[in-house]
Amino acid sequence: MRMNVSRLNRFLAEAKPSATFKVMDRVSARRAEGAKIISLSAGEPDFDTPSHVSEAGIAAIRSGRTRYTQVAGMRSLREAIAAKFERENGLKSEWQNTLVCSGGKQVIFNALAATLNVGDEVIVPAPYWVSYPEIVQLCGASPVIVQCKSDTGFKITADALQAAITPRTRWLILNSPSNPTGSVYSRDELRALAEVLLAHPNVLVISDDIYEHLIFDGVPYFTLAQVEPRLREQVLTMNGVSKAYAMTGWRIGFCTGPRWLVEAMEKLQGQQTSGACTISQHAALTALTGPQDFIQKSCSIFQSRRDIVVELVNQAPGLHCEVPQGAFYAFTSCQDLLGKYTPAGTLLNSDEDVVNALLDEANVATVHGSAFGMGPYIRIAYAIDDASLRRACEAIQVFSRSLVN
Ligand SMILES: Cc1ncc(COP(=O)(O)O)c(C=O)c1O
Repeated sequence: MRMNVSRLNRFLAEAKPSATFKVMDRVSARRAEGAKIISLSAGEPDFDTPSHVSEAGIAAIRSGRTRYTQVAGMRSLREAIAAKFERENGLKSEWQNTLVCSGGKQVIFNALAATLNVGDEVIVPAPYWVSYPEIVQLCGASPVIVQCKSDTGFKITADALQAAITPRTRWLILNSPSNPTGSVYSRDELRALAEVLLAHPNVLVISDDIYEHLIFDGVPYFTLAQVEPRLREQVLTMNGVSKAYAMTGWRIGFCTGPRWLVEAMEKLQGQQTSGACTISQHAALTALTGPQDFIQKSCSIFQSRRDIVVELVNQAPGLHCEVPQGAFYAFTSCQDLLGKYTPAGTLLNSDEDVVNALLDEANVATVHGSAFGMGPYIRIAYAIDDASLRRACEAIQVFSRSLVN
């Protein structure tokens, strides 16, 4: 059934459906035709939630802890979140400054919806996670996209930030490690951004740290509010259990930030979900307070998969990716494939054409970089077992060798 756009909220009518979901739909359609597709498009770890965490959820159900919690989350979980921010990020946080939401995405949504008005601007460095500009737009505000090319590691510089700030700027959204590039901001890079932000106290920052624990080669992790404590009243530090503990379906995200902001987000949440799922909150409490060895194990698996992708993809003629330092994505330039023809006779004019041809002719699903605000790239997600990953990368190699001028 087609949507009747005229009956929709005007901001929703203008919003784009998620490009990653669109790729997943195409994959399902190809699979329904009988094609054996290897998907390198998933944005979630392929592991099971650690069993002691799942057991905590089951125990909550069995013992009848199945009623509403406080809107902002269980006190015990908020205390565990405050302890996590202090232990892992050096952020001293009172439990009252924390909030539990239904996934990291809802943290971002709550923060923006609680603060934005029509005409406000939000600085979104590109390449960006697909949802940032859409959430900004849903709130009636305007995303200000700052292109951050590979020569700055796909990261926003202090000069670029300074140039993007106007009297209407309400937020900057930072994401490290990044989806879709895997880039990680160093302490010095964050310090340089902090200098600019200190001079603009009306500009708030979402620090999206959801991939914090997926960081490779011993690269140290820093978050903005840790690097510049004087920014504490300007920064909402967001995180969650989705990627760190393979808990995407449990839908628990959390944050710490200025008390006024957290209370505004709580007010909004009170009229929206009434709070995150109680059972999931119990599981998240166990994830944060129980044994942490899962994180180390999954991180080293992702690092070895990263090495497979970087090696094999860079052997494919016309494709190039730098070595990502975190998350589970390789943002790969396909510039040199453009203008070529596939064996089926398709002319590759854009990264979306490359992604479609890879799916149709090589049975490998990826996502085009332009969906993340920068083309011509393809995002290769390596949240998949080693053997399938190798087969997919080899299929990509065969595909790129088969192209003709
Ligand atoms: C950069 C980024 N931030 C936030 C999220 C949302 O995480 P959650 O599943 O906890 O809502 C994702 C999920 O893909 C992401 O990639």
